[in-house]
Amino acid sequence: MEPRFEDLQGDGGTVDVDFFAPSFTANPYAELARLRQHSPIAWSARLNAWVVTGHHEVQRMLKDHRLSSARTEIYTRGVPECARGDAEAYTGFLDRWLLFRDGASHRGLRAPAVRAVKPQRLHWVRSTAIETVQELASNLVGRTEFDLMADFAERFVLRTIARIIGIPSEDIPAFAAWSQGGFLLDGTGEVSAEAVRTAQRNVASIRSYLQELVEKRRALPQDDLLSTIAAEFTASGVSQEETIANCINIVVGSHETTKYLIGNAALALLEHPGQLAVLHEQPELLPGAVDELIRFDGSFFSVIRRCGEPAEFSGVRMEPGQYVFCMLNAANRDPERFELADQLVVTRRDAGHLGFGQGPHFCIGAGIGRILTEVALQVLVPLLTRFRVAGEPLDWLPSLSLRGLRSLQLTSR
Ligand code: HEM
Repeated sequence: MEPRFEDLQGDGGTVDVDFFAPSFTANPYAELARLRQHSPIAWSARLNAWVVTGHHEVQRMLKDHRLSSARTEIYTRGVPECARGDAEAYTGFLDRWLLFRDGASHRGLRAPAVRAVKPQRLHWVRSTAIETVQELASNLVGRTEFDLMADFAERFVLRTIARIIGIPSEDIPAFAAWSQGGFLLDGTGEVSAEAVRTAQRNVASIRSYLQELVEKRRALPQDDLLSTIAAEFTASGVSQEETIANCINIVVGSHETTKYLIGNAALALLEHPGQLAVLHEQPELLPGAVDELIRFDGSFFSVIRRCGEPAEFSGVRMEPGQYVFCMLNAANRDPERFELADQLVVTRRDAGHLGFGQGPHFCIGAGIGRILTEVALQVLVPLLTRFRVAGEPLDWLPSLSLRGLRSLQLTSR
């Protein structure tokens, strides 16, 4: 569907894009480009929020303190009255995550979290990822068809992250069910009572599970992320409740983002056989290519902010309480910032993409996400040269928050 634009007192403009139409999800880039061209900051009545698509604008806004990260109410907006109590309990819990905090209280949680994931502490991330990927790759030998998401990306990321965090292998299935079981983090529409209750139940399960595990690690530290986080948070005077909440932030922040990125990267390479061949012939280019794959079709599609005080950006005035969707993937295709913005160029070396965010909330796990994606691609690149996508249409997640494939069926050429 063509987006409709109407001028709104010369103030950005309104836009009528159906962000959930299968045609948008399948290929959002053409519509996002039209939107950006018309106005890099536009009002969407459908989202009841500003939509920002220009690189310069997104970058500026993510660094601006007037746009707050305290936005959890958006995730349960429109919930029926009967589930209001669950919705408040749910958002009350999310409010403890560093992702949703501002200023000093954000910095107080972020500093120990950053120390916990710093590279010297995580020397074993790469070896853990390599060990996991080898187990999975051996299961794919001789297969003529497989689902890259279910048979590879999902298992690889879940097992590797669980090992890094320190989740015992027998608990992985239950842990997977909770961590994928509907964390309402989209913020785009009406939310059902059932969805809120499911999210609240998942939070309660994962919380009591992690509480027990953190207590065990405090008593007997291991060489894992949970022990490190527990030690760093205790040393910084962070309460037990906030430590658990932020362990969950890290789990939720790491799992789906990395899984979907691996799927998007594999699809991009299948659709660009020339670029796939370059990486196949020169695997040493892979570490740098990961950032280009994030720029080209990253998995964190948009981040939301809430306007905290009157603010003006590129002549558009925002009022307190209004929500803003900063479209990272649109910014990453802005031709004013990137040459040949719509082309995948695996030899491109430009770290200016916004796929890991920007400013005070820049992803603390970017290093881990990059390593996991690189290790996955070391195995996938040679494999992909022998496979093709089995069928269309592709099964995209209907979300503005994450961009990813629910399945990617491949068959041998
Ligand atoms: C390739 C995969 C990943 C992508 C694309 C990604 C993307 C992002 C983005 C865009 C943000 C900023 C959100 C905002 O500004 O509101 C963010 C924040 C965050 N990410 Fe990641 N992430 C990835 C992997 C990870 C991993 C592996 C971890 C954990 C080890 C992690 C933990 C976090 C945390 C805790 C935050 C909040 C930081 C803060 O609010 O200060 N992420 N991530």
